[in-house]
Amino acid sequence: MASLQHTLKLDLAERSYPIYIGRGLLDADLLRPHIPGQQVLLVSNETVAPLYLQRLQAGLEGLQLACCILPDGEQYKTLDSLNRIFDSLLQQRFDRGCTLIALGGGVVGDITGFAAASYQRGVHFIQVPTTLLAQVDSSVGGKTGVNHPLGKNMIGAFYQPRCVLIDTDSLNTLDDRQLRAGIAEVIKYGLINDAEFFAWLEAHYAKLLAREPEALAFAIERSCADKADVVAADERESGQRALLNLGHSFGHAIETGMGYGEWLHGEAVAAGMCLAARMSARMGWLDRSSLARILDLIERCGLPSRAPQQLAPARMTELMAVDKKVLAGKLRLVLLKGIGQALVTGEFDTEALRETLERGADRSN
Ligand code: NAD
Ligand code: GLY
Repeated sequence: MASLQHTLKLDLAERSYPIYIGRGLLDADLLRPHIPGQQVLLVSNETVAPLYLQRLQAGLEGLQLACCILPDGEQYKTLDSLNRIFDSLLQQRFDRGCTLIALGGGVVGDITGFAAASYQRGVHFIQVPTTLLAQVDSSVGGKTGVNHPLGKNMIGAFYQPRCVLIDTDSLNTLDDRQLRAGIAEVIKYGLINDAEFFAWLEAHYAKLLAREPEALAFAIERSCADKADVVAADERESGQRALLNLGHSFGHAIETGMGYGEWLHGEAVAAGMCLAARMSARMGWLDRSSLARILDLIERCGLPSRAPQQLAPARMTELMAVDKKVLAGKLRLVLLKGIGQALVTGEFDTEALRETLERGADRSN
């Protein structure tokens, strides 16, 4: 039975939208009011579609429905996949009043959102995220896009959905590695500006790993609320939204350097947050006991706290230069002054960065 537990609002004036969180919501009739026209393209992938597409379709009877099923994987977050969506839309003669619904993880959500942003200069868009990572991060806030071989998420647009529907029961079919990857982004919110949530995670991480519904629902709601506040204040990342990229400069370099799909996004972010924390400690910004708490929580959650051995520090440095936070040729990083006290800055000790990368994979460090 469907049970709506929370409705959050992302406050963006006339583009505000609800984030529905609850159990069994794929069967609840919540999407209809957010679909203005008759034409709907459901976009999913070959893993998620057999699990959940039919249930979503059942609630949309009477509309002109079409489906586009993409191959599964980060390596398919490409312009080719984007084109497959455009092919479906054009073959069905979908017009400017159509709605695209993304059913899947962050890869499907990011590609579909970008398709919605660019098809006929913008059509309606709904997010139905089915991984923990997508439920706590990628489906909220309107960042959409695809990868380029030279850089992760380099082609894209800010484009907000009309609503986000989070059915926490869909996490039951997610494998443990993917669940852990989502927990990395949850920990990120505690580190950025929510020390109380970080402490809650230290006490309750085992419940998340055991998929206890109440713990998961709380973590999802708190993460979405934290993210909604940041996005409402800085939608297009002219300031504090960049904090949401804690660990990402290092993490994107790991994902690109290892080959898309080798390390999961959440795993790369986990290692990246540990590198950011170590660098902050090297500069004397973060005290040693906070550093130890961060590394401990990440490791207890079964996430990597080191850079991969195979990625040479020089290659990491090169890849980090292709980052969306680079401004006028200058690298800016998200670093920590404490747990719950992240800051974005270009004013850091380059020697501390060099040393952090040099020893990034070192277990004795
Ligand atoms: P993903 O979309 O690749 O999904 C992970 C795997 O889980 C895939 O194999 C998928 O098919 C499968 N899956 C999805 N839902 C499932 C379910 N309920 N049951 C079983 N299997 C399921 O990866 P992800 O971790 O969800 O997202 C990572 C992507 O999100 C990256 O490309 C990253 O750049 C992007 N991202 C975007 C933002 C943003 O703000 N837009 C934020 C964070 C991450
Ligand atoms: N995941 C980073 C952001 O949404 O800004």
